[in-house]
Amino acid sequence: MRRSLVAGNWKMHGSGVMITGLLQRLVQGLGAAEDGVEVVVCPPAPYLSLSQDLLRHTGVQLGAQNVHAEAAGAYTGEVAAAMLVEFGVRFVIVGHSERRRDAGETDEQVARKCAAALKSGISPIVCVGETLEEREAGNADSVVARQVNAILQRCDDAALLNSVFAYEPVWAIGTGITATPAQAQSMHGLIRSLLRESSIDLAARTRILYGGSVSAENARALFAQSDIDGGLVGGASLRPEEFITICKSVSEQWKP
Ligand code: PGA
Repeated sequence: MRRSLVAGNWKMHGSGVMITGLLQRLVQGLGAAEDGVEVVVCPPAPYLSLSQDLLRHTGVQLGAQNVHAEAAGAYTGEVAAAMLVEFGVRFVIVGHSERRRDAGETDEQVARKCAAALKSGISPIVCVGETLEEREAGNADSVVARQVNAILQRCDDAALLNSVFAYEPVWAIGTGITATPAQAQSMHGLIRSLLRESSIDLAARTRILYGGSVSAENARALFAQSDIDGGLVGGASLRPEEFITICKSVSEQWKP
């Protein structure tokens, strides 16, 4: 049985004061929910140390939003996986559509970042998803398959057992428009079948999150789908009460 996971992607939001308050509220409010769901927060890199301190001895885990593919070197402004490990980071988002769009990250670069994270013992949360134009042109499945296959080609199956995938249709991110549970389930099923072509074990064990305007209202219906193992939550993860509700709605559906 795959343990559900909810990750909050805070993007470029927050301040020391804001993050301190948010994490204190989350830790206090999540309480018993931790049994059925793993909860991860991904603050901006300068707040990893503060977040590590605040999350010590709690059930909430720490994630980062980006990692460089190389172990060290002349890469101004970049952060290596081993540096993230020093701050207790257990997860890292790779291939988010905002980075594919704004930093021009290619499938190949995303796959190399995924491999670098795995090598350092960090679980990559690999984001895949099509744009509206790609969906309207009937290419959603082939785009997502290309993005997933780039990972499968670069990383070996045994290492990938520590990875998480996130289906995030670009048209649903930050728009308030969510994929319907049926649309999301259909793509999650495709992703799992691609993983199965590589390894039956990998397909059975890998968590596939849904991301894109997840809210307290739509979380339950999305998480009820058989191939949706949790969520990658942007905007709503900055609102502690809503994020707690989302985590609890996953937790309640968990059957050990
Ligand atoms: P959103 O962002 O929940 O604000 O749509 C999700 C994401 O970008 O990971």
